[in-house]
Amino acid sequence: MSGLGVVILAAGQGTRMKSKLPKVLHVIAGRPMVLHVLDAVAGLVDSKPVLVIGHGAEAVQLAVGDAATYVVQEQQLGTGHAVLEARPALQGRADTVLVLYGDMPLLSPDTLRSLVEAHGAHTGPITMLTCTHENAMGFGRILRNVQGGVVGIVEEAQATPQQLAIKELNSGVYCFNGEWLWEHLPRLPLSPKGEYYLTDLIQMAVAEGHAVEASIVHEPLETLGINDRVHLARVESVMRQRIRERLMRAGVTMMDPGSTYIDALVQVGQDTIIYPNTHLQGKTSIGADCQIGPNTIVRDSSVGDRCHLLAAVIEEAVIENGVSIGPFAHLRKGAHLADGVHMGNFGEIKNSYLGPGVRMGHFSYLGDAQVGPEVNIGAGTITCNFDGAEKFKTVIEEGAFIGSDTMLVAPVKVGARSRTGAGSVVTHDVPPDTTVVGVPARPRK
Ligand code: UD1
Ligand code: CA
Repeated sequence: MSGLGVVILAAGQGTRMKSKLPKVLHVIAGRPMVLHVLDAVAGLVDSKPVLVIGHGAEAVQLAVGDAATYVVQEQQLGTGHAVLEARPALQGRADTVLVLYGDMPLLSPDTLRSLVEAHGAHTGPITMLTCTHENAMGFGRILRNVQGGVVGIVEEAQATPQQLAIKELNSGVYCFNGEWLWEHLPRLPLSPKGEYYLTDLIQMAVAEGHAVEASIVHEPLETLGINDRVHLARVESVMRQRIRERLMRAGVTMMDPGSTYIDALVQVGQDTIIYPNTHLQGKTSIGADCQIGPNTIVRDSSVGDRCHLLAAVIEEAVIENGVSIGPFAHLRKGAHLADGVHMGNFGEIKNSYLGPGVRMGHFSYLGDAQVGPEVNIGAGTITCNFDGAEKFKTVIEEGAFIGSDTMLVAPVKVGARSRTGAGSVVTHDVPPDTTVVGVPARPRK
């Protein structure tokens, strides 16, 4: 859609959030809400949307990065004033201007596309998205004449009791003819509240004899806006349900969707089963045919196919295929488990590579380790990787057998196919094909 410009309003303070954080940075399904809005418009325009920022401008810019063009509204003089701030960025570049808010993260690309298409099908200067909700949530009411034509919007604070009873509400999402918009915005009157209301453009258009089109949103939940933390929780729950339904329709089984928390960017493969009380967070991807949970958290990690994760906490880790983990296991940043690794209960792995087929059954810690294929890590094995000041590396080569309760005092290397006796404290490198025992560990004759 060329000739379309997008303005997203996000300068307001969000007073009712009672927060240090700018409202649009509060998180919904693992992403600041404004990023969901940017996602929704991403497919509609080639040019970057113009984000009108004010309160917490720096923090918002930091979070959004180069996904938007920024305009700073120094004083929040109302929605009409906010859109006018975007004029220098858009005038002459966009025939049609779509305006929406940064605090309405449930709006879908389909709804926005239909609004833009509806606008293209009319000659009037404004097409707006309206909705009906049981609870009017402070939204402006749509005024129509006896013929059903839109004649204005009245803000809740200024509405008469009869107007308050009107069920059709202004969602705050509009399409304008660009030139008409830039010409009329500077003429907005000051409202009784001392602000320039974008909504007053409707009366202006009608007074000029234009028809104002309104399309009623298909799914009213999409126009839930966030003003306080009760709204935040409501939108969060709708968003999460959407994510779960999308994945279930794509072939993922969830035994108990209500206790399955999946962030917006997470990917899950077909025939994977997710058990209750599981959290998949951040940039996580899970392959096909896995069993995840119950009671599992996976954050910013990649998990291959056919993996079983039971009561595990996985953070910034890579897990290849056919890996089984848990119960009660913890992978930390930089853990990389190759195909077929088995990690049993009460293990912790940080910044370490475990080659294919490694077995680590019980009560072990591996940090800063490089472990070759088919190594057995006996119960209670620990890499002593930290001397209080620095971290050191442990290397365990292919096929080695580390006996129960071995302390590997890094930097240290255990050669291929070597063995350590139960309780050994390994302070020196062990050559290949050698068995060491004792404290400190020495080769056995
Ligand atoms: C607005 C509409 C109302 C509609 C409702 C839907 C007006 C006058 N009223 O009311 O009809 O039903 O949205 O949610 O437009 N903002 C700025 N700069 C400003 C003022 C606001 O960027 O100077 C931004 C806010 O950050 C917010 C959005 O615009 O994201 C809406 O502002 P808000 O004050 O919440 O408008 P409402 O009173 O909700
Ligand atoms: Ca609002």
